[in-house]
Amino acid sequence: RTTALIAGSVGKDGYRHYMEKELHEHPVVIGQTLQRLIDPATRRVVLPDLPFDLASVPRAVVTACGSAFYAGMIGRYWLEGIARLPVDIDVASEMRYRDPPLTPGGLGLLISQSGETADTLAALRGMRARQQHIVSVLNVEQSTIARESDVVLGTVAGPEISVASTKAFTAQLSVLACLAIAAGRLRGTVSAEREQEMVAALLDLPSRASEVFDQAPAIREMAAVVANARDVLYLGRGSSFPVALEGALKLKEVSYIHAEAYAAGEMKHGPISLIDQTVPIVATVPSGPLFEKTVSNLQEARARGGRLLVFTDTKGAERLRGLAEIVVAIPTVDEFTSPVLQTIPVQMLAYEVALLKGTDVDQPRNLAKSVTVE
Ligand code: G6P
Repeated sequence: RTTALIAGSVGKDGYRHYMEKELHEHPVVIGQTLQRLIDPATRRVVLPDLPFDLASVPRAVVTACGSAFYAGMIGRYWLEGIARLPVDIDVASEMRYRDPPLTPGGLGLLISQSGETADTLAALRGMRARQQHIVSVLNVEQSTIARESDVVLGTVAGPEISVASTKAFTAQLSVLACLAIAAGRLRGTVSAEREQEMVAALLDLPSRASEVFDQAPAIREMAAVVANARDVLYLGRGSSFPVALEGALKLKEVSYIHAEAYAAGEMKHGPISLIDQTVPIVATVPSGPLFEKTVSNLQEARARGGRLLVFTDTKGAERLRGLAEIVVAIPTVDEFTSPVLQTIPVQMLAYEVALLKGTDVDQPRNLAKSVTVE
């Protein structure tokens, strides 16, 4: 079982690629990151001292690049839903040239594995100029973005060597979840009882994440279908939409197969015209309030001859078995934490496809780990 690993070594530890090793570090990385932010005695979230009052920030502006941006999109669902904090979000390459009217004293929230991404740094400086408090969620805590931030919330993911980010993503989500809970408590939207429930759900994640790897055989079956495709459509709703975006990005990065992610409800506004036997549909459909809505989108795709490859949880699996060609059912967890867990099999799929395609998994062509120029 992978929870025995200590994230932090720089070798491949017997894995074929860094990406494979880093995927297996998800459970331990989530655990290590939560350990920093959750007091084991009280089971409450404890943030480092903030030089401003989180209860009174009028709004948060979230910005990042690549996978970190998709983590930010999930963070938006949490900050809005849990802490009732208005959130604006954009990729940093756009945010740096936007001129959003920001009330001084707002929260500028940056997310970056490396802490060196040029666009994210430029967006930070833009927010600083608009008198926002700068909080950064960073894996490399000795970095340029760290030095220019008011507060650094560290992801304890250890060194990430694979160019395509994996474990940093769930570590970022762990931090963002804790931030949303703390903000909710301070803003009076999270009761002490609900905080305990949410903390319990977070602390349950490392062992549930270890169980995801039991699904490797079914994920390999999916990979065999995806590896033969030229285009792949990823679908998800709500917080599963950013998971779909992350899945499509990862597939493009490491397998060079074209993939697009759509909010499942938007399928009828365009991508439904693409659906046929040759364009597999990878959907993330955990049980929860949006489950039936997404299932009906999948039924529409099925009726048009689409091949459905579905990630769900044990609770949703039975309903989907009659509909989808391959179903990967990971453990059912609290709806709030489910995007953290659902990300893992989606990233594993990209890795397995890359293996079948024989690409340079850890160093995909034209990509860099850290993009320090514009
Ligand atoms: C590059 C990497 C991605 C990463 C993005 C943002 O494109 O290949 O994996 O998500 O940069 O990097 P950051 O270090 O800011 O998280």
